[in-house]
Amino acid sequence: MREKSIELLNKAIADELVAVHQYMFFHFHCDDQGYDLLSSLFKRIAIEEMLHVEKLADRVLFLKGEIRMEAADSVKQITEVKEMIKFAQESENEAVEMYNRFAIECSNNADSVSKSLFESLVVDEERHFGQFDDEMDNLEKYGDRYLVLQSMERSKKSSVAAAAGRPVIE
Ligand SMILES: [Fe+2]
Ligand SMILES: [Fe+2]
Repeated sequence: MREKSIELLNKAIADELVAVHQYMFFHFHCDDQGYDLLSSLFKRIAIEEMLHVEKLADRVLFLKGEIRMEAADSVKQITEVKEMIKFAQESENEAVEMYNRFAIECSNNADSVSKSLFESLVVDEERHFGQFDDEMDNLEKYGDRYLVLQSMERSKKSSVAAAAGRPVIE
């Protein structure tokens, strides 16, 4: 039971690390372009994925395994917003499918704690998918206006902050 679970947990860590790196990359680019809403969404979800790494790593150590802590893939240089969201939707979908499968495997191996952990991750990844899906809907409904509005909001905040002589804090 132990070896199989450790292997699945490490595989999950590898994929979560990809998500952390990729979403932070998207966050940097959205922030650079002034898309505050998307920029903070990517950052918030990257932090949640990091907390997933923590839960998985705790379980590996409890099972007396070693944490590999290697990302399964390198960051994709995607800088176009619609492509970012599409990539994120696909990643979350894959994670949901994978963790459902891992939960069943753990159940078959009589490791109900790891099974519950994977089930709790499915809940989070489905929510992430929903959040990215909403963003895709907005983008498709309002097109570039949706992004322009975010940039305008940023400019407004900057000028209000400059007039008040304080830095803009996001
Ligand atoms: Fe995750
Ligand atoms: Fe996720």
